[in-house]
Amino acid sequence: MDVNKTLVTSELGEKTYHWLVTGCAGFIGSNLVETLLGLGQKVTGLDNFSTGFQYNLDQAAAAVGEENWKNFTFIEGDIRQADVCATACQGQDFVLHQAALGSVPRSVADPLITNENNITGFLNMLVGAKDAKVKRFVYAASSSTYGDHPGLPKQEDTIGNPLSPYAVTKYVNELYANVFATTYGFKPIGLRYFNVFGKRQDPYGGYAAVMPLWFSSMIKGEKVYINGDGETSRDFCYIDNCVQANLRACLVTDEAAAGQVYNVAYGQRTTLKELFYLIRDRVAKRYGRIAEIEPVYRDFRPGDVRHSLADISKAQTLLGYKPKFSVTEGLDLAANWYMDNLKTE
Ligand SMILES: NC(=O)c1ccc[n+]([C@@H]2O[C@H](COP(=O)([O-])OP(=O)(O)OC[C@H]3O[C@@H](n4cnc5c(N)ncnc54)[C@H](O)[C@@H]3O)[C@@H](O)[C@H]2O)c1
Repeated sequence: MDVNKTLVTSELGEKTYHWLVTGCAGFIGSNLVETLLGLGQKVTGLDNFSTGFQYNLDQAAAAVGEENWKNFTFIEGDIRQADVCATACQGQDFVLHQAALGSVPRSVADPLITNENNITGFLNMLVGAKDAKVKRFVYAASSSTYGDHPGLPKQEDTIGNPLSPYAVTKYVNELYANVFATTYGFKPIGLRYFNVFGKRQDPYGGYAAVMPLWFSSMIKGEKVYINGDGETSRDFCYIDNCVQANLRACLVTDEAAAGQVYNVAYGQRTTLKELFYLIRDRVAKRYGRIAEIEPVYRDFRPGDVRHSLADISKAQTLLGYKPKFSVTEGLDLAANWYMDNLKTE
């Protein structure tokens, strides 16, 4: 996380703030915790371990060392309970709200539970943060909000109809955030993440995202499936870029930046077919046996958008966001982590 250290040190100065990270045992949350503690900040984490893991926190602890880890407080709790959210927000300067149930297919299979976690839970956090008068509430929005709008690159003001229950919940988050800005003068910042990837993204279970799933399948010598014809594309965003955007959204001093949503991506499109070979080449350096494997093509998946590419100029201009890692640079780092950490059988 050295790049983020350099990028935000001037904004942080010598100050020590209190940060609440919800979803701290998950992929993005645990990376936020690690970076913030590495910067000498005081961090509270909230998680119910529904899709997160203690070992993500253990890895963050090992990365920052014993002294920094003393600045971390963990609350095991559920954002579906308003009192838990209210208590967690007390005394915080910044809230980085990541806790939610991700995955389009999960939301198609069980829209009720996705709604409870992603809308009721979100509203509980928003109320808790407003009442505690935190300096900034930054939340994980999603590129899924662009829905069926075909325009590329995606610009924040132009969205289509949601294509899944998950996308509905993420759009409702934005609607609530806007209403809190106009009704209470409490101005959250939403970060529309575009396919974030990197260390600690869960490769297991039925709802794993494409990148960790493929790393895992290749390392285990299993078949790798591409849903559709392989031309589906995504703007893959390495985790450190995403962490940087979160920190900048909290530390930005320009009032015009508050109460807005921003695309968080690298700004480059990669097709699934290209991604397959990028991953295969990296994994083959350690597992020579997969050097010749080819993907297996199968049906498109319902609810998936066809193409995704972000215009990141708004975040660059208003937040000072400067993504440092391209897809290939991020893949080099992610590949090493997956090959060191994944089960091989
Ligand atoms: N990973 C991506 O590419 C991506 C893209 C767009 C948006 N997002 C959003 O970013 C956020 C973080 O995603 P992630 O990839 O790190 O997922 P993740 O599943 O690894 O992390 C989510 C964390 O939230 C926790 N959580 C879920 N429901 C909770 C509840 N009711 N109470 C307390 N904790 C709860 C889980 O246990 C988990 O640790 C989510 O809001 C997700 O929708 C992620």
